[in-house]
Amino acid sequence: AELRRDEQPSGSVETGDGAASRGCGAAPAPGSKDKPSKKTFSEVQEERREQAQRSVLIHCPNTVSEKKFLKYLSQHGPIHTHFFYESFGFYAVVEFCQKDSVDSLLNRTQTPATGTEAAIPFRSRFLYLKPKGPSSHAAKQSLARSSNHLPPSKRKLFELLCSAESVDDQLNTLLKEFQLTEENTRLRYLTCSLIEDIAAAYFPECTIRPFGSSVNTFGKLGCDLDMFLDLDETRRLSTQKSRGNFLMEFQVKNVPSERIATQKILSVLGEFLDHVGPGCVGVQKILNARCPLVRFSHQASGFQCDLTTNNRIALKSSELLYIYGTLDTRVRALVCSVRCWARALSLTSSIPGAWITNFSLTMMVIFFLQQRSPPILPTLDTLRASADEEDKCIIEGNNCTLVRDLNKIKPSENTETLELLLKEFFEYFGNFAFNKNSINIRQGREQNKPDSSPLHIQNPFETSLNVSKNVNQSQLQRFVDLARESAWFLQQEDGDRPSPSSRQPWGLAALLLQTVAPSKRVQKKLPSERIKSLLESVKSNSTQSSTNTSGKQALS
Ligand code: GTP
Ligand code: MG
Repeated sequence: AELRRDEQPSGSVETGDGAASRGCGAAPAPGSKDKPSKKTFSEVQEERREQAQRSVLIHCPNTVSEKKFLKYLSQHGPIHTHFFYESFGFYAVVEFCQKDSVDSLLNRTQTPATGTEAAIPFRSRFLYLKPKGPSSHAAKQSLARSSNHLPPSKRKLFELLCSAESVDDQLNTLLKEFQLTEENTRLRYLTCSLIEDIAAAYFPECTIRPFGSSVNTFGKLGCDLDMFLDLDETRRLSTQKSRGNFLMEFQVKNVPSERIATQKILSVLGEFLDHVGPGCVGVQKILNARCPLVRFSHQASGFQCDLTTNNRIALKSSELLYIYGTLDTRVRALVCSVRCWARALSLTSSIPGAWITNFSLTMMVIFFLQQRSPPILPTLDTLRASADEEDKCIIEGNNCTLVRDLNKIKPSENTETLELLLKEFFEYFGNFAFNKNSINIRQGREQNKPDSSPLHIQNPFETSLNVSKNVNQSQLQRFVDLARESAWFLQQEDGDRPSPSSRQPWGLAALLLQTVAPSKRVQKKLPSERIKSLLESVKSNSTQSSTNTSGKQALS
């Protein structure tokens, strides 16, 4: 199925239609007939980064008149695009056509003079629009309208899923409701850009890049914002070749290891974000973690941010997932449903622990799609084999080479439906020999487990590591049990859909949202034991039709 415009991968969404109509920017016309060529990960990142640098974030009164607001700002230059949203307050993101306009605006901006408190003066692109005089209510029709950045409510999802036409339609609906919107994606890049301005007070050549689900095409509204502080530019400057007999080097402090260097850099930035960073609250320095990080809330955007550095492989993993998410339109829909399913059944959690992570689940879906006949996704070895000299990439001694130009990869000839794939996914992992086999997306086939961890998923780039090392036997067993039950449930349902008017949960609605079924007494989890005994009773007494054993009712 073709993706609708609003279903395009979040990372590669084209610039909004404002661009064309206002005559600045080079966005292709929406709805253009030619099949767009797929952008590389770094092209998307650079484009978004550049947009963010031309943007400002403005806290404004929610009675602001959109027209007057835009007129006021366009004194500094033409505006490319803008939107309003609500978080802890009412905000606008305004993207100018030129970066100069931002400087012009900042030059006309003042530091607040508060009466009782003292301000720490810091020049940033996060501004406050103070109404002059008493707030005059703008005419109703010109009030700014805010865009939505929240995931759908359970009730709304329930309605949408129940009224879908097929399980395929349900999977696509789920993706459409949860995927990052164009605005949310812009806000993520802008937040990174604002944090970069703060970090640049210490490291002027630094770059803050988003990674993880904000950019890998699998993000859901409300997911965290993973940031990577890239100091390579600073390093590169210091390793340029010298001329003549002299070699000039920066005088730097040395510490015993890269890890300690990372901890020191993050410690100082954490401190600075806490004391000076506009809008940064709840700063926690988690420096003893395997991957040291600074966690904070960016209040104005509403994002929970995880800032790391020296974590280049994670950025490359994001690129790998971006490639897989972009190659075939079914991948994102399937990953989204599996992630929602796991969350709804408490297989995943926002708290770290022995549970499976979203990253591991995504690897499992990719592996499963490599197993189909014909395969829906190529192996990592194939992606490497299609790379050319320029794609070559070695990080910390690991070969991370990937083909960047996705137009070089032939689309899959597999035409299986999402409904079938979801069922088969549950079936496949419900019966997988986790006790002896490892999941390996590099070769696209099962391999003998190199150690005794219950779940072994080979890290795609650091092949001696297991990305699901944290998962214990009982969490794996829950995953297997629920996968089996879900496979069974979807099979039971085949051809047995309630009429739309009955508003009974079916398909994904029954799997994910049993807690909100209005007409039913429901339980939060798929009742594993009950289903097993029901299965037994179906097998042993299939003639006793007075007992209602339909999957839906058994589950609800
Ligand atoms: P969300 O749950 O939506 O935040 O998904 P996410 O993909 O952003 O996951 P998370 O925020 O936990 O991690 C961010 C990125 O770090 C991931 O996308 C991966 O690239 C990387 N990552 C996370 N966990 C692991 C892991 O266990 N091993 C490796 N190699 N990379 C990981
Ligand atoms: Mg994340």
